[in-house]
Amino acid sequence: MAADETICVLAVDDDPAALELVEEALRSASVKVITSETAREGLALARKWRPDVAIVDLILPGTTGLDMLDELLTVAPQCDVVLLTGHYSTDSAVEAIQRGASDYLTKPISVKDLRARIGAYLDEARRRLRATELEREAAAANCFHGMIGRSSVMADVFARIRRIAPHYRSVLVLGETGTGKELVAKAIHTLSPVAKGPFVVCNCSAVAETLFESELFGHVKGSFTGATANKIGFFEAANGGTLFLDELGDLPLAMQTKLLRAIQNQEVQRVGSPDTVRVSVRIIGATNRDLHSMMAAGTFREDLYYRLAMVEVKLPSLAQRPDDIPLLTRHFIASFAKEYSKAVNDISTRAMAALSRRRWPGNIRELENVIGHAAMMAEGDTIDIGDFPAEYGEAYGEEHADPLPAFPFPQASLPTLAELGRQYARHVLGVANGNKARAAELLGISRATLYKLLSEIEDPGSPAAEPPANSNALV
Ligand SMILES: Nc1ncnc2c1ncn2[C@@H]1O[C@H](COP(=O)(O)OP(=O)(O)OP(=O)(O)O)[C@@H](O)[C@H]1O
Ligand SMILES: [Mg+2]
Repeated sequence: MAADETICVLAVDDDPAALELVEEALRSASVKVITSETAREGLALARKWRPDVAIVDLILPGTTGLDMLDELLTVAPQCDVVLLTGHYSTDSAVEAIQRGASDYLTKPISVKDLRARIGAYLDEARRRLRATELEREAAAANCFHGMIGRSSVMADVFARIRRIAPHYRSVLVLGETGTGKELVAKAIHTLSPVAKGPFVVCNCSAVAETLFESELFGHVKGSFTGATANKIGFFEAANGGTLFLDELGDLPLAMQTKLLRAIQNQEVQRVGSPDTVRVSVRIIGATNRDLHSMMAAGTFREDLYYRLAMVEVKLPSLAQRPDDIPLLTRHFIASFAKEYSKAVNDISTRAMAALSRRRWPGNIRELENVIGHAAMMAEGDTIDIGDFPAEYGEAYGEEHADPLPAFPFPQASLPTLAELGRQYARHVLGVANGNKARAAELLGISRATLYKLLSEIEDPGSPAAEPPANSNALV
């Protein structure tokens, strides 16, 4: 699409009269016509304007329209290329279509012919432009600092970020891998009073344990082997701004103590220096680990947790917001199309349905990768199931598409919830090899409740009974 977002037509012909004809026939308020008498200049113009339609003479000085076709489609893959041929060159015209041209016109041509034959391609380009604009609008309307989402859970997250950002001193961002924790941290910083200050990222899982102190607080020359110069740490680098401690759950226990002290006192001591340095640093911590079980296991300090978790932002997994999958998918298609300079701008209904059915353990990053792959593989402008990565093929395939538990109940005999509970309890007891303690644990219920459920299986009318002597009789 041309940069000014009108439709752009490129005409290449060594006959100036032919170029004038194209201009006269097609130029209008919404159609820009650019012309060139040589293939070389024509390609340079194509690179600059990315035309929607190109009308190229088959015979050009020093080259042929067919050779130019290949290069043109590389530069502007969405371009409809129409070749102008003499009546004597039907074979070349057929070859042109096989090589990706959209059509050919036989010379001599009239203004009327040109308008009639090229008009359809102009309409198609307009449709593409409108679709792109609508998509951009939808994404923009549901985009909060680079985060796409229109589900109510994400609206809550955005509202929370807005409320937190002006006041926070420290925030904890929680969520499974790939849910957008880093984007949240950036948004909080951007909306904060220290937005003009630095945003420094420390990835706690990437720092060697022995180097943590020096990385966070800096060191003075000669303080340990390898300390060949004075170095400031992440805290001083983030002075006046935000320090983002990513993968906070991977911070060694000893460092947690020092980190807490630095956050509380807002001062740091470089390794090997007796002096302390005052800093003013806001902290955003992020982790996908369960800090509560880490605290229970003694591997994460409670005081640090409570210091950071005064304010928490918890991100939903993608499975918790399936309504956002189509919007995210379209957002990623548009951004990869741009990145790869490809004309891909759509996704088939069955491919979108397959995406919506998945669970996405890698969340948005996984979806982004799948669309990135598909956008690269797509041959036309529409992504289809076959464009997804091979390892996803099975799960995406129509017959195997649904990884969620199926509910194979015919409509005529839908069980009640209580009946379903009983069936499920029996199933889990089988999985647990008749071990009721294990089955109750798997079901997340007490053993007494399980006994009650099982006794109802034996005799639906009877009140809760004692545990049956032989549980295997039930499975
Ligand atoms: N709401 C969103 N809209 C658009 N892109 C998103 C959104 N959330 C995340 N992404 C993209 O998904 C990818 C993963 O996001 P991010 O790195 O913030 O996740 P994370 O929670 O920090 O993951 P990890 O725990 O693995 O570090 C990034 O490329 C990011 O741009
Ligand atoms: Mg991250």
